[in-house]
Amino acid sequence: MSRPRPHPEASSVQCDEDVTCCYRRVNRSGLRVVWEITSACNLSCSHCFRTTGDEDELTSREAERLIDTFPDLGVTKVAFTGGEPLMRSDLLDLIEHVRSHGMLVKLLTNGTLVTTEIAAALGSLAPLEVNVSLDGATAATRDRRRGAGSFAKLMTALKLLSAYPLIQVNGVAVLNRASLVEIPSIAKLADQLGFASMTFSDMFAPRNGKLERSCDALSREEWAAALAEIRSLHGHRRSCRIRSVGLASDPTDPCEAAASIVQLDPFGYANARTMRLSHLGRNVREAELSEILLALREESSGVSCECVSQA
Ligand SMILES: C[S@@+](CC[C@H](N)C(=O)[O-])C[C@H]1O[C@@H](n2cnc3c(N)ncnc32)[C@H](O)[C@@H]1O
Ligand code: SF4
Repeated sequence: MSRPRPHPEASSVQCDEDVTCCYRRVNRSGLRVVWEITSACNLSCSHCFRTTGDEDELTSREAERLIDTFPDLGVTKVAFTGGEPLMRSDLLDLIEHVRSHGMLVKLLTNGTLVTTEIAAALGSLAPLEVNVSLDGATAATRDRRRGAGSFAKLMTALKLLSAYPLIQVNGVAVLNRASLVEIPSIAKLADQLGFASMTFSDMFAPRNGKLERSCDALSREEWAAALAEIRSLHGHRRSCRIRSVGLASDPTDPCEAAASIVQLDPFGYANARTMRLSHLGRNVREAELSEILLALREESSGVSCECVSQA
């Protein structure tokens, strides 16, 4: 399943890269919205930090009105995540709405709900990026984390998406102890599948608006060994970029989260620096996103990194 090189308009993937901040500034001139568009999911992966809550999720109308405000805020890319974004019946309409404003879209999906129709609809909205979770190199290892049959469904989804060359597919693997030995085989599979990039991630636990290494994560020593392995794959003559994402190791680094990213949860809470937002931050139902963003930037101006890289 080979694919063309990443589409320059949609791609944030330029090179092999190890980043020590999930909220790094990718593009100095643009703001990214990472939008947990639903808390619903059809899987229950063992490592997942997804938001749960009993409030009403933003409606299609509320979501569309919010999207209309993005261009004036300098948003250049919207990443739809979840939960499983494809659980939302209006997801394709929301993607279309973002694209109609000229902004780029990244869809993060477990890949189990992609039908022929959904692949075709995504193809018609391309260029766009689709990130799929590839937490294991085989059905046995991936299904252990994500449930029986999920690997096979992902492979079917990738086949369907491969008909649309302007959809750039990237892989993400959240590492645990069992998957450490699979780093080379996951990278090899990602390359064979024609992914533009394969990112290996540490496992995080969002707490009090910050990120920490999850207690189920690799130890610091194991993460260091994983990084060495990942770096050894850099520069190979493969078309798939090899990347990693961890947490800042230098607590004196300035935090630039609010400058580069705003995260929205399914219920409308906005924040800069956590991936599990329920009831954290202010709600777009009560204040304009522009106001919230200004306050977030003021709060984080001159603040050092507070994410914790120790387990
Ligand atoms: C929350 S999921 C939502 C999108 C989709 N349901 C999926 O599984 O790809 C987005 C990404 O976050 C990752 N993720 C989930 N829990 C995590 C954790 N505790 N630490 C790091 N990444 C995590 C998932 O593996 C996936 O790659
Ligand atoms: S599919 Fe995604 S959102 Fe659902 S449980 Fe797994 S990692 Fe979490």
